[in-house]
Amino acid sequence: MNAEELKRLAAARAVAAVRDGMKLGLGTGSTAKHFVELLAERVREGLNVVGVPTSEATRALAEREGVPLTTLDETPELDLTVDGADELDDELRLIKGGGGALLREKIVAAASGRMIVIADGSKRVGTLGRFPLPIEVSPFGLEATRRAVAKTAATVGAEGELVLRKGADGRIFVTDGGHYILDGHFGRIERPEALASALVAVPGVVEHGLFIGLATAAVLAKPDGVETLGDV
Ligand code: A5P
Repeated sequence: MNAEELKRLAAARAVAAVRDGMKLGLGTGSTAKHFVELLAERVREGLNVVGVPTSEATRALAEREGVPLTTLDETPELDLTVDGADELDDELRLIKGGGGALLREKIVAAASGRMIVIADGSKRVGTLGRFPLPIEVSPFGLEATRRAVAKTAATVGAEGELVLRKGADGRIFVTDGGHYILDGHFGRIERPEALASALVAVPGVVEHGLFIGLATAAVLAKPDGVETLGDV
């Protein structure tokens, strides 16, 4: 199986966990896209669900596919969020935000009773940090915030370049919320909880891509089969 087939397999397992009447968080990224497409097939067969998209891209996809949508203002408590991840460890701690949607992804996940991560097996790591940590920041005061992030992260042992994310067109990448992203090339993050707490305390940091205590299960598709962590 190729990577896309593995992602679709993981997505299919998560769709099987969806029950009639559920209020869902709809993730962002190439794996979550498979989930939305497969969910839409079930909706066309009569499944009754409503979803909150975690990005404008997922909103457009869900609308095209005919998945009924709501907002967290109308529906502030969700049953289940299904989303991809850039990395996860054995304790279901995640790095997210490779697609730039981390802020809405985290708000939606936090509003959900459960969160299932879907990914191909290569995303599982012993220690987080191989994937650069996305840190969403206010454009105002960018350089001052970058320096403060570097200084604060170093106090908990996370040191490395903070790279301002650019899009494929070479322009600064702007999130759905109008913010920028600094990608932290920290290498191994030995103390993710400490880094998470330190980052949120920096003025100018809007959110970071460490998702700790949010995922309740994971479905990892590998060439030799699907592996699950937690209660899917
Ligand atoms: C989006 O901001 C991210 O958090 C994605 O969920 C993450 O990057 C995984 O994306 P893929 O499923 O495309 O690997």
